[in-house]
Amino acid sequence: MNVITAVNKGRKSVRKFKPTAIEDTVIHDAIECAVHAPTAANLQPWLIGTIRKKEMLAQIAELADNGKFIADAPLCFAIFGERTAKYYLEDCCAATENLILGLHAHGVGSCWVAGDKKGYAEQVRKLLNVPEKYTLVSLVPAGLPADISIAPKKETKHLVFHETFKKD
Ligand SMILES: Cc1cc2nc3c(=O)[nH]c(=O)nc-3n(C[C@H](O)[C@H](O)[C@H](O)COP(=O)(O)O)c2cc1C
Repeated sequence: MNVITAVNKGRKSVRKFKPTAIEDTVIHDAIECAVHAPTAANLQPWLIGTIRKKEMLAQIAELADNGKFIADAPLCFAIFGERTAKYYLEDCCAATENLILGLHAHGVGSCWVAGDKKGYAEQVRKLLNVPEKYTLVSLVPAGLPADISIAPKKETKHLVFHETFKKD
């Protein structure tokens, strides 16, 4: 298996973290992966925040209904997109996945926590003092894995078709 395939297939959502701080070089490298994602018309319409202060992590966790574990992560990324960019959502989702894989390549676990479509998106933006032209797309708490759960995956053969779709 080549390294990219191994990184892709080895990634799992991690929701329990060791308290160990993540090195700046790793954070920088993962952000570099994020900003190398493809974007429509190459607009790169994103803004990526890193949050490490415990108090702020706790406040974000309080807002995120399915992201309470953010409070116990040593680090959380917040990915925002420029509202006026037509494909900001797709662009920022690509960046989010690149970020997650970039972290995983360093052995750092993380979990995509929904931002877009969530009622708390505006509250998180205001909490982080982010200008109104941006909207929250995703939160990514990260840290060394303390526990990893394996989510079952559908069988690939049921999810693809070749040339034209045929019913079984
Ligand atoms: C758009 C999106 C939003 C998600 N939001 C949450 C979330 O709010 N809380 C959470 O615990 N996991 C969230 N997840 C992670 C999924 O639950 C996870 O990817 C899925 O269960 C498959 O597990 P795996 O990532 O280990 O393959 C989200 C994933 C995506 C792609």
